[in-house]
Amino acid sequence: MTIRPTLSLLLPALVAGLLPACSKEGKPDAKPTASAAPAVSAAPSAPTRPALGAFAKLPERGAGADLGPAERVKLGRMLYFDARLSKNHDVSCNSCHDLARYGVDGEKTSPGHKKQRGGRNSPTVYNAALHFRQFWDGRAADVEEQATGPVMNPVEMAMPDEKRVVDTLSSMPEYVELFAKSFPGEKAPITLKNAGRAIGAFERLLVTPSRFDAYVGGRDDALSPAEVKGLVTFISSGCTACHNGAAIGGGSYQKLGLVKPWPDAKDEGREQVTKQASDRQMFKVPSLRNIDKTAPYFHDGSVASLETAVKLMAHHQLGRELSDADVASVVTFLKALTGELPKELITAPELPKSTAKTPKPDPR
Ligand code: HEC
Ligand code: HEC
Repeated sequence: MTIRPTLSLLLPALVAGLLPACSKEGKPDAKPTASAAPAVSAAPSAPTRPALGAFAKLPERGAGADLGPAERVKLGRMLYFDARLSKNHDVSCNSCHDLARYGVDGEKTSPGHKKQRGGRNSPTVYNAALHFRQFWDGRAADVEEQATGPVMNPVEMAMPDEKRVVDTLSSMPEYVELFAKSFPGEKAPITLKNAGRAIGAFERLLVTPSRFDAYVGGRDDALSPAEVKGLVTFISSGCTACHNGAAIGGGSYQKLGLVKPWPDAKDEGREQVTKQASDRQMFKVPSLRNIDKTAPYFHDGSVASLETAVKLMAHHQLGRELSDADVASVVTFLKALTGELPKELITAPELPKSTAKTPKPDPR
């Protein structure tokens, strides 16, 4: 399904802020308009509440997902922090997606095994489970499938094969017990796939409700007048054509440089996955939740300031030049998307001790 032609055709409407959402593909529950709040008239003193049909409140933690037995989330949390899932026992999921730092490492690209770096910026894991697909190019279906990737990726955690993953986890009795309880009835529960399912279950709890959700839920005073003004600019500029739904993004692929070409066209984006020229420079629209905390921006981490990112978006995606005042106003609104981190989940858990059978770190 192509989204670009539809969007280009509808661009005038979009720019006028009349189009609440782009066409979507993927799971029906990714539709952002489903739980849209109707516009309500505000109390006389409050700033006028804009129509919020493009947005939805964040769902409750883990809502709608099968998290399995309680042990599965506990296991997933341990695996998320366990560097022994990497070849040299020095890289964990938390190295690149630091949960205490809004799920990022603040680097343009992240150092993995032997300090090697891939070509793309590490996105945050917070609220990622809400996205219709995973990765900048959507090559994994969900967080469970995604989590098996980095373990085997040679520049990330660099495990040579699944056997070494299974040998590592099987060498520690506490993991053996937790896998058995997390996947009851399975003959050989310790697999890379089940490690991914456990990590995914944990990630489904990593949602960050913010004042914006209270506002969408009807509390007019949850946002300041300046934040509401920025929200109105965000909507009227056309940003919600792509950044919408509960995650304010994460629901469709869009071309980077839709209206005005993006100057640096090195990364083919989704074309790498589909081999279709029409997917060149199509990327998953990122979520804007916690965006103030997750610099640097874009798939290559090329932009350090949020103001610059907003200006570039208006120019390249919408063909609009926003004044500095409008940019500042949008950024004021975006800062209200910084949410609460689930403190009880994100401190590093105690991990089982290695045994004589645990494969040794391998720096090669
Ligand atoms: C060496 C750094 C590094 C490590 C280690 C790492 N990641 Fe990532 N992660 C990345 C990068 C870079 C991307 C984006 C890659 C792309 O889209 O092509 C990514 C993407 C993701 C995404 C997709 C988010 C989105 O918005 O699409 C999730 C979820 C994720 N990682 C979770 C994990 C988990 C779970 C682990 C541990 C099993 C892990 N990562 C280990 C760097 C890392
Ligand atoms: C036509 C779709 C579209 C429109 C309209 C759009 N964006 Fe984006 N936005 C994207 C895509 C796609 C990306 C990811 C691009 C990349 O990194 O390759 C993105 C990325 C971003 C980022 C960086 C996110 C990150 O995690 O690095 C910010 C900030 C952003 N957009 C804000 C806005 C604002 C503000 C507006 C309105 C002025 C807007 N966008 C309009 C599609 C859109």
